[in-house]
Amino acid sequence: MLYHGKNHAEKYAKSDQILFKSKDHVIIRLWLSNNLKQKKIQRLLDLGCGTGRWFHTMESVDFVLGADFSFDMLKKAKEKIIEKGYINTELIRCEISNLPLKKESFDYCISIGVLAEHVPLNDEVFLEVGRILKSGGIFSFTAQKIGEISRLKMKGLQFLFPVFPYFLKEKIELQIKTFHKRLDHNKQSITELAKRHNFKINKIEVKSLNKSDFYFISAEKEYR
Ligand SMILES: C[S@@+](CC[C@H](N)C(=O)[O-])C[C@H]1O[C@@H](n2cnc3c(N)ncnc32)[C@H](O)[C@@H]1O
Repeated sequence: MLYHGKNHAEKYAKSDQILFKSKDHVIIRLWLSNNLKQKKIQRLLDLGCGTGRWFHTMESVDFVLGADFSFDMLKKAKEKIIEKGYINTELIRCEISNLPLKKESFDYCISIGVLAEHVPLNDEVFLEVGRILKSGGIFSFTAQKIGEISRLKMKGLQFLFPVFPYFLKEKIELQIKTFHKRLDHNKQSITELAKRHNFKINKIEVKSLNKSDFYFISAEKEYR
């Protein structure tokens, strides 16, 4: 488990105010609301919900479950639920790879800023999301796209790591560990991964956020 340092959740929640004025916020909010309005959603799982940054886009959903393994992030999410009066939203503390949820109990799953960033986007994730989604359910998520420049930067950081001063090492080590969770993905590999788990890709787009490119993916669990 990665340790993001003291007060990470506090800082993350505060950064909402900056994000909400930014172009990135508009891009994600529009993408989410366009996806969520495609059909009437009864039960939605927000995988790696963090501080509940996107709960405001889910007000039309009957029931939202925010799942995250960080107690501190969930504490902030709880404060948001109370402050905003989201009566349709509950929280659960758990690991993405082991969701304590019944099979085929949700009709929508979203995950923003988690996969191919903090958690590898792999068979394990699709198996678990595929298990809890009903047939015809939608999985909409982002996955960071690694460019050649960040690959070279990471090689440089690894090479120079032994000579960095002590006070920088903790931060750099975190960057290196996180980087290795981002496997090489492209549209074809994501489509194949989804297909192995009986998901059909409805749309994959690439969007630029905060100087990095991200895949925005919407996949549908096929009827069996
Ligand atoms: C960058 S934050 C994104 C939060 C939120 N989705 C958003 O867009 O603001 C990543 C979140 O994933 C959670 N997370 C990382 N790895 C996880 C895992 N293996 N299981 C559950 N949650 C995880 C972290 O605790 C963190 O809250």
